[in-house]
Amino acid sequence: MVKKKILNSLNQVSGEYQEEEELATQAGISVDELRDEIQAMVGDGFVIESSEEGYKLVEIPNRLLPYQIQRGLDTSYIGHDIRLFSEVDSTNQVAKDLAEEGASEGTIVIAEVQRRGRGRHGKRWLSPEGGVWMTIILRPEIPPAKAPLLTLLTGVAVAETLQTECGLDVGIKWPNDILIGDKKVCGILTEAEAGKGNLEYVVVGIGIDLNVDLDDFPPELKYGATTLQKELQKEIYGVEVVQRFLKNFEELYEQFKDGQFPEILSQWRRLSKTIGRYVEVHKKGRTVYGEAVGITKDGVLILELDDGTLKKVISGECIHLPH
Ligand code: BTN
Repeated sequence: MVKKKILNSLNQVSGEYQEEEELATQAGISVDELRDEIQAMVGDGFVIESSEEGYKLVEIPNRLLPYQIQRGLDTSYIGHDIRLFSEVDSTNQVAKDLAEEGASEGTIVIAEVQRRGRGRHGKRWLSPEGGVWMTIILRPEIPPAKAPLLTLLTGVAVAETLQTECGLDVGIKWPNDILIGDKKVCGILTEAEAGKGNLEYVVVGIGIDLNVDLDDFPPELKYGATTLQKELQKEIYGVEVVQRFLKNFEELYEQFKDGQFPEILSQWRRLSKTIGRYVEVHKKGRTVYGEAVGITKDGVLILELDDGTLKKVISGECIHLPH
């Protein structure tokens, strides 16, 4: 990608101008083409000063531009094809449409804003500017019943990413909410399309409240949510978070395909904020209460009810009750 090459040559740290001819040669394009590319990059939000001496990179925009993510992305296939949209209804829907058209495994769809972001249990997912709204297309050869395991795997990848990124008290609420302290910072929505027997594709949607303004949220959502920016008291550069996440995700996904899900589950247990908590789980108008005592090898939550019996909960909305 030409823009990637230009950025690699424009050394922001040195603060020096780079000669036009030299930049064009390094990028393998003509000077006219270089000028067009630089203009496009300025349109993308880069601040690039030009003078008779050449060009100088002054500022990088905090946007999830594919060529920025791919610069320094250390994966074998995840994120090698990234489609960025300024606004879509839902990246999961765009990813499904692309998967139907044959998009390859590891293709990523990112939107800067989602008009109708989807949450679990048919809820809306607010997706204003400042978040990471992203969906990965996967084509694993597994039975449809195993698709929910990909949600747990993704939860581990996000939690580890945020933990490394911010060093805060990051953990997972079953099945797939990423919390900082007891506030939600990320949600995951997996949608699978099954053919005869095996899955045709799976789309895994990840929504991270990175730099979003919580004042855009209604009170009922604002109270239980947080953002990385709020926790760290500074604006977070999204590209690094996405790069680290994609790398973590690919490693775990490869382990998963190699049959090493038990290892991933051990990581999930270590990151879990649910195990050991007294919880309330809602599903289809029914509610159960109990202490979360474990998770099975299939990702099913085990509750010890008040009468001492054990109950397995396959899915539902889990609420951590006060200790
Ligand atoms: C949840 O309810 O916790 C799941 C939220 C998932 C939101 C993400 S944002 C990117 C992707 N596109 C969507 O429409 N939803 C997911």
